[in-house]
Amino acid sequence: MDDKIILITGASSGLGEACAKFLFKKGYKVYGTSRNVSKIDSSKKDTFVMVQMDVNDEKSVKKAVASIIEKEGRIDVVVNNAGWGVSGSIEDIEVTDAKNLFETNFFGTLRVIKEVLPLMRKQKKGKIINISSIGGVLGLPFQGLYSATKFAIEGMTEALRMEVKSFGIDVVLVEPGDFKTGFTASRKKARSSDSSSVYYSASNTAHKIFENDEQNGSDPILVAKLVDKIIHSSNPKLRYRVGSFSQKFIASMKGVMSDRVVQWILMKYYKLH
Ligand SMILES: NC(=O)c1ccc[n+]([C@@H]2O[C@H](COP(=O)([O-])OP(=O)(O)OC[C@H]3O[C@@H](n4cnc5c(N)ncnc54)[C@H](OP(=O)(O)O)[C@@H]3O)[C@@H](O)[C@H]2O)c1
Repeated sequence: MDDKIILITGASSGLGEACAKFLFKKGYKVYGTSRNVSKIDSSKKDTFVMVQMDVNDEKSVKKAVASIIEKEGRIDVVVNNAGWGVSGSIEDIEVTDAKNLFETNFFGTLRVIKEVLPLMRKQKKGKIINISSIGGVLGLPFQGLYSATKFAIEGMTEALRMEVKSFGIDVVLVEPGDFKTGFTASRKKARSSDSSSVYYSASNTAHKIFENDEQNGSDPILVAKLVDKIIHSSNPKLRYRVGSFSQKFIASMKGVMSDRVVQWILMKYYKLH
């Protein structure tokens, strides 16, 4: 049994749910979150506890975190996982959709971090694990705004890690490749998926490729096992990549191969030339 208190945002589906179930089975006390109260059944004793949290809403974040602190007195690990995607060309994506995406993926992560840091500083220990993406390392065509939210998480995490090291807090990035989750179905498509868009054909082709990669993607349990390994590590690294070999490889080539070559490979892969 491990009595660590773990908070995982977005635990009703996909990577978050896999992490919550796996860590609960390992004996951790796990609190998962969802926006949807109907997905929350606290009567069950054989699973992790679900609390309501909308990471877009500061009050909701404060309330959920406070309720866990009230019960447990501490939070040892936070996994910032809640997120979704918008796809389509940069030109076709409405600024409103881009802002909504940042509201969850980036500002949602920031809200949770700001809420748990005072407690973790007081505890003089804690781990914050931010779920980024390979798309947070490489700007992916027709997922450019999604990539932008994950690049933002990468920058914030790098800085935060240095700021809070002296308080005994570790901040870590997990960069998954494609995983089979609810992400594909919940993705919002921009106008590029209409035949009126000049990007229609290219965007459609790229969509088929990345949706197929996701639906044939890796098993979320890999992310859960990695998160468990990070929780156990006394000196975790800044970055961990997880997923297929080819996706981890191309991400690791950024900064090693020239940008021209990396972009040529990506464009070839998405049939953009
Ligand atoms: N699947 C992949 O291939 C992949 C690859 C790289 C990175 N990721 C990242 O992994 C994370 C999890 O995605 P997933 O693939 O597991 O997708 P998913 O199956 O669609 O799960 C997304 C989770 O996020 C929650 N969520 C969405 N918006 C929220 C909000 N405003 N407030 C609170 N919770 C919210 C959802 O909960 P409710 O709807 O119940 O609130 C759900 O539990 C995301 O950050 C995603 O960017 C995924």
